[in-house]
Amino acid sequence: MLTTLFVALAVTAVFAGVPNPEETKRLMDHLSDAEHYRNEHHNKQFDHDAFLGEDQAKTFDQLPPEESKRRLGIIVDKIDSDQDGFVSLVELKDWIRYTQKRYIEEDVDRHWQQHNPNNEEFITWETYRKNVYGFMNDMTENELRNNEGFTYSNLLKRDRRRWVYADSDKDDALNRTDFAGFLHPEDHGTMRDVVVLETLEDIDKDKDGKVSLEEYIGDMYKPEEGESEEDEPDWVKQEREQFAGYRDSDKDGFMDEHEVRDWIAPAEFDHAEAEARHLVFEADADADEKLTKAEILDKYDLFVGSQATDFGEALARHDEF
Ligand SMILES: *[C@@H]1O[C@H](CO)[C@@H](O)[C@H](O)[C@H]1NC(C)=O
Repeated sequence: MLTTLFVALAVTAVFAGVPNPEETKRLMDHLSDAEHYRNEHHNKQFDHDAFLGEDQAKTFDQLPPEESKRRLGIIVDKIDSDQDGFVSLVELKDWIRYTQKRYIEEDVDRHWQQHNPNNEEFITWETYRKNVYGFMNDMTENELRNNEGFTYSNLLKRDRRRWVYADSDKDDALNRTDFAGFLHPEDHGTMRDVVVLETLEDIDKDKDGKVSLEEYIGDMYKPEEGESEEDEPDWVKQEREQFAGYRDSDKDGFMDEHEVRDWIAPAEFDHAEAEARHLVFEADADADEKLTKAEILDKYDLFVGSQATDFGEALARHDEF
């Protein structure tokens, strides 16, 4: 769905003096930032992003499988820091933490430079708004009301709210630390409240301010055509029970803001460790709790993408270049 939206936006960008593709892409990503906080049920892209960092993950998606495997082999040698021929849980966790940090730092640098080329201490909201949403000034009332205009208005509203949360001294300007919280709220404990709100809004498709069981399941699982509830995989059935048994703690049939807060991982939750455990569990063919290069290469599409496994996404990305 996001891919479709992105393609549509990229196409119309030609006509309407819309933000550059890089910025549009970030706006779209923005919508799914909060996903890092929920969803134990990994989708492939999530694993690839965690293992490689988002930028690298994109590069790998474009590669043919053989090249993707070759590069993965080189990475495995790097991860095995004590060179004993095994990737341990700790080595994998350190690696994931390193790639995440690297990605976030590069991303913040890039946007900071883009909006603040003279590297002043603060970026004002007005500067940011003009840079990112200035094109909306040229849109007619009608354009602003159609689908696309509506999407931009919502992104603007969401950015505005997030900005206020990130602005620690409430002067409507962000220094680099606050700006990092704005761009990557999932990485800043102080941004928790707004992450909860955004998570709730993402899942709450009928916009009644709370998450129903169907919205909760719909956020993590899309059934095949004609598939009924009985055909669902076991983990989805377990999630249905989780919702009834735990998530909806006051048993009113919905998750409200408080229940969403309890659900998304606590601030001290170690994402890198959880991800490392997941990857070891999935790839550890002989169950010795560490991975050989062969085990990793065997499951290469778990760790990295390639054109063969993510063909649709690779196609969509052509719009970016
Ligand atoms: C930004 O401001 C906050 C407090 O308002 C401060 O803690 C932080 O160190 C500042 N960051 C920079 C890069 O100056």
